[in-house]
Amino acid sequence: MESMKHILHVVGARPNFIKAAPVLRALAARKGVRQTLVHTGQHYDVNMSDVFFRQLGMPKPDVSLGVGSGTHAAQTAQVLLGLEPVLLERKPDIVVVYGDVNSTMAAALAAVKLHIPVAHVEAGLRSGDRDMPEEINRIITDAISDLLFTPSKDGDANLRKEGVSSKKIRFVGNAMIDTLIRLLPAAKRPDEPRLDGRYVLVTVHRPANTDDPRGLSNLMRALAAISKLAPVLFPIHPRTRARLDAAGFKAPAGGRLLLIEPLGYLEFLALQRDAALVVTDSGGIQEETTFLGVPCLTVRTTTERPVTVTAGTNKLVREYASLPREAAAALKRARKPAKPPKLWDGRAGGRVADGLLAWLAQRRAA
Ligand code: UD1
Ligand code: UDP
Repeated sequence: MESMKHILHVVGARPNFIKAAPVLRALAARKGVRQTLVHTGQHYDVNMSDVFFRQLGMPKPDVSLGVGSGTHAAQTAQVLLGLEPVLLERKPDIVVVYGDVNSTMAAALAAVKLHIPVAHVEAGLRSGDRDMPEEINRIITDAISDLLFTPSKDGDANLRKEGVSSKKIRFVGNAMIDTLIRLLPAAKRPDEPRLDGRYVLVTVHRPANTDDPRGLSNLMRALAAISKLAPVLFPIHPRTRARLDAAGFKAPAGGRLLLIEPLGYLEFLALQRDAALVVTDSGGIQEETTFLGVPCLTVRTTTERPVTVTAGTNKLVREYASLPREAAAALKRARKPAKPPKLWDGRAGGRVADGLLAWLAQRRAA
């Protein structure tokens, strides 16, 4: 008789939860699988973590490492130290990591050093910008993973260019879009603030946009200018909130630049669906607006998600000073119909589950 396969997932930050949920669900429906869910605690506020577990119907973590915030070295080291004994005790057949955050890279490293195979969901994305902490996390995670699940074909090409054997690569599509498709019918705008007409939805949290006070002040000035065209709703990531508070930032009079706390998934999804325009530096939101066909301006010089520009509704804006003009043009343009990239079809989690089980079965046989 085939023995149970033990699959251990590691998540830590907001976007991880959204990508892991469909894989956990798909594996729960397969026979002969035992799953363990580890939460590193990289994100810990209720509205950065618990709300997603609840709204996405995820199981409670079996293990919470409680690593919290810190410098890159401290956070990475805490995940390594916290996870190693868990892996030694639980002896999973494979560890699955998601996306490109510090928890992803640290978990992959902890596992591979113990000779436990690693699977990376959202492998192969590259911005080409090594100043981004995420780019370093992507490169390291992919280099030490045994199984690489890519969301788009550019991911396969990037991996092959780095010398990764095609045998390790599985093009499965976008797990984040699985969650979107499943929960779009349940998405509901928050009661407050009430927005009756068209509005612009904003998120910003990349260090390149938040950590230089002059740059952040210019960005906020650009958002204030956009709020003259339409109300701007800005649910503020805690990193950005801390920087704005430190700078003593006050929203301009007039009440059209609305700064609020981070929102739950269902509330934020409904706001994306109905927005006239999204301005962001988020990786996931570039993808979600592409799927929804909502115009998106990405305040970055590069993107690791080029299909959102070539096939989707995304446009990179490299200068804060250009944002108001770009926003005005985007608000005037007729909408392009949504054209989801290949395999952004709601079934990526199932493909990951199949890929994991097939790989484990073959490995056992070898
Ligand atoms: C992290 C990821 C980034 C991802 C983002 C998703 C890394 C290097 N960065 O960035 O790739 O896009 O998550 O949101 O892994 N904080 C709180 N409460 C929380 C979490 C964070 O107050 O629940 C504050 C702390 O002051 C902390 C700061 O936010 O120092 C940054 O948190 P951290 O997890 O280090 O990085 P993010 O900016 O969230
Ligand atoms: N999101 C959310 N509430 C918010 C802002 C974002 O639920 O207030 C969701 C968003 O829809 C997407 C994910 O969080 O699914 C993106 O996470 P984030 O932008 O923090 O990280 P990134 O994708 O840039 O790594």
